[in-house]
Amino acid sequence: MPGLVIVGTQWGDEGKGKVVDLLAEQADVVIRFQGGNNAGHTIVRDGETFKLHLIPSGILYPGKICAIGNGVVVDPAVLTDEIEGLRQRGVDVSGLRLSANAHLIMPYHVLLDRAGELKLGKLEIGTTRRGIGPAYADKAARLGIRVQDLLDEKILRKKILAAMDSKMQALKELEVERKKRKQKGDDEEWDARLDLHSIVEAYMRYGHRLEPHIADTAKLCWEALDRDATVLFEGAQATMLDLDHGTYPFVTSSNPVAGAACVGAGVGPRDIDEIWGIAKAYATRVGAGPFPTELDDDLGEGLRKAGGEFGTTTGRARRTGWMDAVALRYAVRLNTINALVVTKLDVLSGVDPLRICTRYRHPEGAVFDEFPYHQSIIHSAEPEYTELPGWEGDIGAARRESDLPREARNYLQALSELAGAPVRLVGVGPGRDQVVWMGEEQPHLRAAA
Ligand code: IMP
Repeated sequence: MPGLVIVGTQWGDEGKGKVVDLLAEQADVVIRFQGGNNAGHTIVRDGETFKLHLIPSGILYPGKICAIGNGVVVDPAVLTDEIEGLRQRGVDVSGLRLSANAHLIMPYHVLLDRAGELKLGKLEIGTTRRGIGPAYADKAARLGIRVQDLLDEKILRKKILAAMDSKMQALKELEVERKKRKQKGDDEEWDARLDLHSIVEAYMRYGHRLEPHIADTAKLCWEALDRDATVLFEGAQATMLDLDHGTYPFVTSSNPVAGAACVGAGVGPRDIDEIWGIAKAYATRVGAGPFPTELDDDLGEGLRKAGGEFGTTTGRARRTGWMDAVALRYAVRLNTINALVVTKLDVLSGVDPLRICTRYRHPEGAVFDEFPYHQSIIHSAEPEYTELPGWEGDIGAARRESDLPREARNYLQALSELAGAPVRLVGVGPGRDQVVWMGEEQPHLRAAA
């Protein structure tokens, strides 16, 4: 399986980082293809916790080629900090590659994202405020600054000047808002008075630091694929946050679906052999937007606590709910997922009965077995559930399918049938070894030729 894509099937935070970390051991290249530092991956290795936002999880294997593809938006301040943080902990970052075509998040993107979230814009999405949306907007408007621009001061200055021109009004309004808020005693930390000269200087400095990592990352993938070596395409965010296919406008500004791996890494559809969808055993969502199976009660609070459902990037409490098989079925079809990984099954221990949403009911009576295309229906959808018995006791020591309680196996079986894809791997705790390969031994990815 030389080309393997890892995608989230829900609203993100499914535990993709841990799965990539596991599979990366046998891969030659790990490449991220979309999103930016809105993502957050937590990996627990030998009792040590690593939180990564931009660098692919495979970096913990010394010398492994870990690439940030052209489809990613990169905040160079965050990336240089992340590199430095790993170095200080003794991690070898020599395998890191950064696409020369990736777009950069600029200070004005972060400010504009904040302005949107202050309702100076019309709608509150609950973004991570990392500048993701404005950076992708500039990319589409052909006003983006790319990684390769960091290597040429004249071009960099010219492009930043052009990009800032259209934003001056919005930045002025933001500064007025800041002053108003300051007078009211609200001392938020931002400064919308941007100065071209200091931005160019700071970005040239980032350029010098990042230069050893800048590469043609598409070519790097082709070379690996052409010699039958394994390339892991690491998705961030998830299907239901996809700009085209998610719960728009409550989505991120990129395409986390599997099809985007081709565009965001620079490979063709025939380079992809397998697509693994990651699903948490229950559902979570951060930020605003519809969430049909949300549990706004003690049980929801219990899941939040048991699952440690607080954002890696923003620390926000995640909304929690039951597994939504309507959305999961949609994700399986949309991404052509051929294997599911169910994470955090241990968090459901002691919850009895368990529920899985099998279809939606509209208040006027219509029922939906498939994910409705109309956003208004999703907003008012009432979930219909099937109930299954839960199990008691800790399952964190399970390593084989037969170690799992019968009720847990039944739950996984029901999920697989409702979703239309087999469950290959199950997470039973945060540790790297706390996984169960279903039915068979751990598969061996094709070794490098
Ligand atoms: P943005 O990506 O920062 O623009 O945020 C848009 C929406 O996507 C918000 O609801 C965020 O909470 C959500 N989001 C972005 N990245 C992640 C992630 O990695 N996990 C979960 N939700 C995310």
